Amino acid sequence: MEHVFNQGKSSNVLLLLHGTGGNEKDLLPLAEMIDGEASVLSVRGNVSEQGMPRFFKRLREGVFDEEDLLFRTEELHQFIDWAATEYGFSRNEVIAVGYSNGANIAGSLLFHYEQPFKGAILFHPMVPRRGVSLPTMSNLPVFIGAGSNDPICAPEETKELDQLLSKEGAHVTVHWEQNGHQLTKQEVESARDWYQEKL
Ligand code: MLT
Repeated sequence: MEHVFNQGKSSNVLLLLHGTGGNEKDLLPLAEMIDGEASVLSVRGNVSEQGMPRFFKRLREGVFDEEDLLFRTEELHQFIDWAATEYGFSRNEVIAVGYSNGANIAGSLLFHYEQPFKGAILFHPMVPRRGVSLPTMSNLPVFIGAGSNDPICAPEETKELDQLLSKEGAHVTVHWEQNGHQLTKQEVESARDWYQEKL
């Protein structure tokens, strides 16, 4: 997959996953804000929706192509394993930082693999899939940045995702903003404070 890897000074590795229409450069300033010492693996989604990179196909806004979601989730999982060997970082030190579509593929990794991450920061995520049993997530720290007026990820869906992850043992912190689907500076600062405490 197209990506950027920047070696850091600490053992933590921030896995950056952009939103629809973004690329592997978009979230680099976020990594600097959250943890300037960590290594950074920033990936570009392999799917193109009318020229806009994404991490998996959708049938329409908010309705995911489940077959492609599963295929791309496995593809990204394998890519992270490959990158760990290639760049010499520990697979157990990866912390996902995803926004929107990137948060949704990170959520899908959590739904389909046992402890794929040491922690996860999900900005404006949705429930990636329903009706499946989830792996255990004992003590997994998860930060969710949400919008009480987000037209894409309704607050009810945020609460549903919180419940689904918490039920499996994840320690979920939800931070609410009132700026729709936008990723705000306050939200990132709140994620940074959470990260400094938990990771
Ligand atoms: C998705 O398709 O993953 C969500 O609707 C968020 C987005 O608009 O990318």
